[in-house]
Parts: sequence; C-alpha cells; structure tokens
Amino acid sequence: MKNYRLRLAVAIAGLCIVFACKSQGNKEENENIVQSESTLDTEEKIYRPNYHFTPKVGWMNDPNGMFYYNGYYHLYYQHYPDGNKWGPMHWGHAISTDMVEWKEQPIALFPDEKGYIFSGSAVVDLENTSGFGSDGQVPIVAMFTYHDPIKAESSKMDVESQAIAYSLDEGLTWTKYSGNPVIENPGIRDFRDPKVYWNQEHEKWVMVLAAHDMVMFYGSKDLKSWELLSDFGGDWDKAIGTHGGVWECPDLFPIPVEGSEEIKWVLLVSINPGGPNGGSATQYFIGDFDGTKFTMDNDFEAILKKDHNFWIDFGKDNYAGVTFSNVTSKDGGKFFMGWMSNWEYANEVPTETWRSAMTVAREIKVIKDDKSYRLATLPVDEIDTYNGVKYKKENIKVNGDTALINEEKVDLSRAAINFTISELKKDSFTFKLSNKEGDLLTFGYYGADNTFFIDRSGSGKTEFSKTFSNKKSIAERISGSGKLTGTILLDKTSIELFFDEGSTVMTEILFPNAPFETLSIETVSQDFVLDLLEVNELKMN
Ligand code: FRU
Repeated sequence: MKNYRLRLAVAIAGLCIVFACKSQGNKEENENIVQSESTLDTEEKIYRPNYHFTPKVGWMNDPNGMFYYNGYYHLYYQHYPDGNKWGPMHWGHAISTDMVEWKEQPIALFPDEKGYIFSGSAVVDLENTSGFGSDGQVPIVAMFTYHDPIKAESSKMDVESQAIAYSLDEGLTWTKYSGNPVIENPGIRDFRDPKVYWNQEHEKWVMVLAAHDMVMFYGSKDLKSWELLSDFGGDWDKAIGTHGGVWECPDLFPIPVEGSEEIKWVLLVSINPGGPNGGSATQYFIGDFDGTKFTMDNDFEAILKKDHNFWIDFGKDNYAGVTFSNVTSKDGGKFFMGWMSNWEYANEVPTETWRSAMTVAREIKVIKDDKSYRLATLPVDEIDTYNGVKYKKENIKVNGDTALINEEKVDLSRAAINFTISELKKDSFTFKLSNKEGDLLTFGYYGADNTFFIDRSGSGKTEFSKTFSNKKSIAERISGSGKLTGTILLDKTSIELFFDEGSTVMTEILFPNAPFETLSIETVSQDFVLDLLEVNELKMN
C-alpha cells in the first residue's frame, strides 16, 4: 500500500497522542467508584439525563455494533465498568424497542489475553454466510478491534487487529471466534473500528476501517476471510478531508437522495483532534462505491476543496457516531447515534458514578441543493411519541429580552422545542436558558456572518477543562432560506440543535448547578417575529 513507511513516524506520534492520554487515565487515576450517598443523590438528580442513554456505573465512549432484529434495537458501547475514566475496554450493551428508551443489559464482550475490545460493528447474518448459525438460528456477527495494551506500551506496530464474535441468542450473549484475529495488523499502529455491511449488488460483505490517516475497504463472502479492496483519504498531496488528527470509526452506506430515485454513498469518518470547534468531530464524504472503491462526487469534491464544512454535527459533543445495521426508515434513511462527549475533556467531566451519554438516535438523509449533496439529520420520529405537557405560542413579537417560558410548568430539562421564524432577514437573535443559581446558556444566530452559535461559558460547572468553554462554538448556516426552522432538544446535561430541517446540527453537553427553568429570546431588531414556538415535555413511560 502507498505511503506506509512515510507515515510510520507520524503514526507512532499519533498513537501516543491518542492512547497515551487515554491509558494514563486508566493506570494512574482510575479508581473504583466509591461515593457517599449524598454525591450519588445529587448526581442522579442534577446530572443523570432524563432521556439520553448513560451506563448505570462506569465509563462509556463510542457506540458499537448497533443493529435491529426481531423488534429490538441493540446498542453496544465502549465501556469500562470498574472505573470512571477510559480503561480496559469492554462492550457494554443496551436494548430498546424504539431507539429512545434504553435498558442496560449484562456486558456483551470482555477483554481477554489478546487485548481490549475496541470499537466495531455487528451484522445480522440472515443467510448464515458465516456458518455460525445452527438449527435455523440466525447468527449475529460482531466485528471489533483487539487492542493489545502491552504492545501499545512499546514501539511495536502490530498493536491492533480485527476479530469477530457471534451470538445465537439475538445479541444477548457472544462467543469469540476461535480463528481470531481474522485480519492481522499490516504494519499500521492505528488500525481499527471495522464497520461491516452487506453489499447486495456484489453479494459480499464490505467492511471499512480506520488506518491512521485514511480508511481501508475490505470484502468477504463469509465474514471470516477478508481481502483488501482499496483505501481512501490518505493521499497527503490531495489532502482529502481534514487531517488534524487520527481518523477513527468510519461508516459506509448507500442511501437514496431525498425526493428522487438516485442512490448516493455516504462515508462517515470521525477525527480526533481536528473538529470544527476543537477536539473530536465527525466529517463526511458523499460519492459512489462500485463494490471496490469509493469515489467522491465531483461537485462535492469541488466544494470540499474550497471550504471544508461537511460535518455531521458542528457542536463539540458528537463523536464516533455510526449507523444501525439491518434497518432503515420508510424512506430509506439511516439511523445514527454518537457519543456525546469530546476527548478534550471526556475523562474530566463532573460526574463520578458514570461518565458520558449518547446523543439521541437521529435519522440521516441525503439532500441535494443546487450545488451539491449534503447530509441532514433530525431526531428519530419516535421521540414525538413521548408526550407530556405541551405549550404552543404563535406570532411572538420579540424586542429586547422577551420571556418565552417561565410561568408555564414545562420541565425544560426534558423538552423538545420547535420554532419557526418566517422572515429571518439579517437579524441576530439569542435564546437564553437560565436557572435560580444564575447559570446561563446562550445559543442562536448571528445575522452578520450567517452563523449559529452556542456559548456555554456561563452554563454552570466549566472549570474542569480549559477547552470546555474557552470559545463559543460556531456553525456556518448551510441553508440560504429566508425562513428558519429549528428543533431544540434539552435534557439535564445536554442541548441538541437541529436548524433548517437538520442541515446544520450542533450538540453540546453542560453541567448546570440546578435545572434550567427559564427560556427567553433576545434581539435588538424592532420587527423581529418568532412565528411559532411549540414545546413538548418528553415524558418517559
Ligand atoms: C474513538 C476510539 C476508537 C477506539 C475506541 C477506544 O473514540 O478512539 O478509535 O476503537 O475509541 O475506546
């Protein structure tokens, strides 16, 4: 393969940056989680999200192996159950019937003598191509990365390899394959996060994995023996995408372009660091895949070269997200979840019992405007079935700081808010979320430069990290429409903003000292009208 030797030195440096930090957390600081009743109680009341998934106890990062089968969605995740910082990785497990409410299950995969169980994917092997199924039982096959912590401490290259495991009880318990690893390390230290899908047209499994600063595609007929097909993104002279950090957790899938018969291929690639607002984030590429090679769409490539703004989320807290296998929406959309944190401060956030939550499940669509293709992501429809107190107001004249919700008893730490501004003009506006403790979270839109922002510098506890709130997060507005719509999802410790039908998304976490209770909007414009505000309290069953 091209350029490997050239990359060697950088690969070592890259790995040291990525995993030295993570393992330091483990060796020197990770302690058993022992807490007083009162800390526990405070954390549960103030920080445990109302409707985002968190593990009961311990550390969590990337979502892994998500699939749907027989009425259940499965979410596995990078998990260290014995500490609240990154450590020896297991696959935790949770199930759901609607991707909203998750029930934690026993741990699915434990680390062993071959190493930690790093990120990966799972597929439903309906035709039993792997031969793991017996008595008509459909096998679920997971593919993950073994990360050898002993080799990682040395200067060895073959730290990571790919392995499989199978489940004959629909994802509850797993057996690791005796022939592991199924893909040996080819001499690249960062070589991980396999994502597998069934390529119907060429009747084979295709897998994409991250190899330091590029992705590699592999093919297989039986999920056990794999052949290298091609790679993408690593030609430094061409500088495809951003390369501010190591590439991780890729995903490749076909998806119909909204409102047409056309099919496009989406390649997601997480990068850490190098995100648009610092630290970890997920970029994407749109093009075609011929069964062997991924090629970017020409228009897409032209815009990408000029101005890289193809991020699935511009906020600081949506990383390593991938899609569910064996399921699409009725329009062919893919379901996605990400890890709601950032490697800049994930190990330091002010919870002790557990660390990190997942984003809500989102539906990804491909839309085409006059210039190129883009992704749009919105919360899955199932969120709307959780109905509590509702509040609706139309034609709100905004001038100065205008109260929106305070008297009304809507719980703003479990709320889905939709708003519409029919005539945006060049107005700037700021939503303000506040509480009795004087914490303030602001987010909104700057008309002068056509950008959205989130400012969490006054939102509560921020001092645990220098980079948590030293800068406002900014996102370019993609849509040029004079009408602006938005969906705001609020939980106790997160905000997810979906502007213009999901064409610009921002997700961030926060740690207020008390629940937010008041929402207002501020603008200096004399004729600013908020045409619609609808609030739905997300009442869980
Ligand atoms: C991404 C990542 C993956 C790796 C996992 C280890 O956040 O670094 O590349 O498999 O986390 O926990």
